[in-house]
Amino acid sequence: MNYAAITGWGKCMPPSVLTNADLATFLDTDDEWITSRTGMRERRISHVPAIEMAYVAAMRALACAGLKPTDIDLIVYGSCSFDEMVPNTASALQYKLGADGAAAMDVNTACTSFLYGLSTANAFVRMGTAKRALVIGVELISRYMDWDNRGCAVLFGDGCAAVVLEQTESRTGLLAETLGCYGDARGILRVRGYGATYANVNVTFGDMLWDFDGPQIFKKAVQGMTDASAKTLAKVNVKPDEIDLVVPHQANSRIIESVAKYAGISMEKVHLTVHKYGNMSAATVPVALVEALEEKRIAPGAKLLMPAFGAGLTLCSHYVEWGERVVPKDVSNVELPPCDKTALELVNEIRAAKDARGRSLAGIEGAYYVDRRPYATQ
Ligand code: ACO
Repeated sequence: MNYAAITGWGKCMPPSVLTNADLATFLDTDDEWITSRTGMRERRISHVPAIEMAYVAAMRALACAGLKPTDIDLIVYGSCSFDEMVPNTASALQYKLGADGAAAMDVNTACTSFLYGLSTANAFVRMGTAKRALVIGVELISRYMDWDNRGCAVLFGDGCAAVVLEQTESRTGLLAETLGCYGDARGILRVRGYGATYANVNVTFGDMLWDFDGPQIFKKAVQGMTDASAKTLAKVNVKPDEIDLVVPHQANSRIIESVAKYAGISMEKVHLTVHKYGNMSAATVPVALVEALEEKRIAPGAKLLMPAFGAGLTLCSHYVEWGERVVPKDVSNVELPPCDKTALELVNEIRAAKDARGRSLAGIEGAYYVDRRPYATQ
């Protein structure tokens, strides 16, 4: 039987740091509220398009695996903040890498996009449709953020990480997962202004308005990640106390603590990045995974659990058994271009563009989307 070993890993974090104090310069919020409610102190704001972060992370992951771009035959690009919708962004990465001949697909399940992408690539590699795959988790949330909405603006950041999968006969890699979606709750987290619903209608291009019911998302997130984790562990007959490290989606430290408590896993076995990066949506789990490896928290054969949730509301939990190698084969010297602006300057540029453009979505709430089942017969 074939498996898909994770043989390469690499991250790319933009250098500009946005602090809670920076946010308080334009929002009615403060460090104490954000830290106590979310665990977040800082997040990163990118000065480059998402594809640039993806390129650097991919080159680092390939070097780690000791591979060249042309060795890859599948690219799965997990994100919900694409630089372009058509053509897809995976094709831009394929071209920039020079990974000629590789299949290239985008996966958007919001914050779970990397893990849904890992499931997709894992299945392709195990079946032999691809031999070596690159899976990306990348977000440029800052461009889409509704910076007037303190309920969500304080929570998110930009970032990227990638992994390489290679076919192997050793029982290693992603061994079980549970995927799901609370479609009935999709309206509690929505970015209005992004998608064909808003194209060529009476909406100012570029306006973004977030519908974001934090307390409801919180409850669904805890329920979804807890249920999915229990199902996943049952599939492989692994007990919670056998898990070596949990690498969870990091939307809020209180959500993570609740999931760990219900799962029966000590917080000492949870790898946290939420304090320094906030919620990077699809990038959160792979960045935490890469940092756990860099910090030597993952030993050969380690048993990992990766629960996540995102807009949709999509949910999942993945069980991975690590292989033998926990150190990179090689290191890439590819870097992002330097940034000459502070994170606050970058955010204020986005805010100023929005002010100049004006707000058009606020007046048309409900006009272009209604969540219902219009064709149901009973
Ligand atoms: N600063 C100061 N006060 C605030 C802020 C802020 N940034 N945001 C909200 N408040 C106020 C509210 O107005 C409210 O005031 P009131 O009591 O006077 O009405 C009070 O703080 C409490 O607000 P709640 O929303 O009830 O606060 P809660 O404890 O639920 O925390 C939070 C809010 C942090 C958003 C939490 O609900 C949460 O983390 N939810 C999950 C969000 C999440 O995970 N999103 C990621 C989705 S993934 C994706 O795919 C995009």
